[in-house]
Amino acid sequence: MLGLTPKKNNKTYGFKFKENPDTKASGYEFFIDKDNLLIRLSDKYKPTKRIHNYLIYYWNNFRDIRCSVKNVLEIGVQTGNSLLLWEEFFPNADVYGIDIDPQCKKLESGRKKIRIGDQSDDQFLQEVVTDAGGYFDIIIDDGSHRPLHQLGSFNYLFPYLSEDGIYVIEDTGGCTGDFQLYVVNSLKKLIDGIMYWPDGVSTGDWPYVKDLGSSAAWIDKNIIGTEFYRWIVFIMKGSNPSINKYLMDKIN
Ligand SMILES: C[S@@+](CC[C@H](N)C(=O)[O-])C[C@H]1O[C@@H](n2cnc3c(N)ncnc32)[C@H](O)[C@@H]1O
Repeated sequence: MLGLTPKKNNKTYGFKFKENPDTKASGYEFFIDKDNLLIRLSDKYKPTKRIHNYLIYYWNNFRDIRCSVKNVLEIGVQTGNSLLLWEEFFPNADVYGIDIDPQCKKLESGRKKIRIGDQSDDQFLQEVVTDAGGYFDIIIDDGSHRPLHQLGSFNYLFPYLSEDGIYVIEDTGGCTGDFQLYVVNSLKKLIDGIMYWPDGVSTGDWPYVKDLGSSAAWIDKNIIGTEFYRWIVFIMKGSNPSINKYLMDKIN
């Protein structure tokens, strides 16, 4: 037992990939035209997510939880097309939509609940959370696409995801003018939390580490994954590291 504490640094490996002109075609489709329920619903409702090719990532993350999701929040309603999509895709969920445009209120019907307000207004966000019963299983930000709004809403709302909830931020980076990747680079820092290693614990003890200890921040203990794709990021809430039910008790 060395009890080593890893030192943080910014050293990175410099990849020098060689070009491989003989890349083999895969045996599966990874494109928008893949036939599945979400693609069929997007053909029906035509939300903007469709042309951005985001739906394959939504399908991969949402297909298995479709029937158990109880509530969804999407920031950015506009035509209401994406709320129609989610209402049909999640058959047991209330689908909340928030928008700054008062005209969107008239799109409320069925399980769709529209609240009018500004995503940068924490008090408004709190009212929506309270109204929804205190949590959301899924939150999607397709609102103003302004970096400080994307990060501020995430900062406020992520604690209000249910355990194992998923937070999605659409349209990050150059597609909305964030050429410096302020949003993506800020979100990349979350990976340090996923990888958090408690002080004084030896690497050989990783199968026994159930609690990150008091030095870890709340976010270190409540994030289990991130997925970065072109212009869209998924952030997974969960109990880090105790989501792993195979962690063992240490017998000295
Ligand atoms: C890209 S559209 C949403 C599209 C919709 N989710 C879909 O896929 O069909 C963005 C919406 O965000 C709204 N919006 C802009 N700034 C906002 C803000 N600060 N707070 C809340 N909504 C905002 C706009 O009024 C607009 O309707």
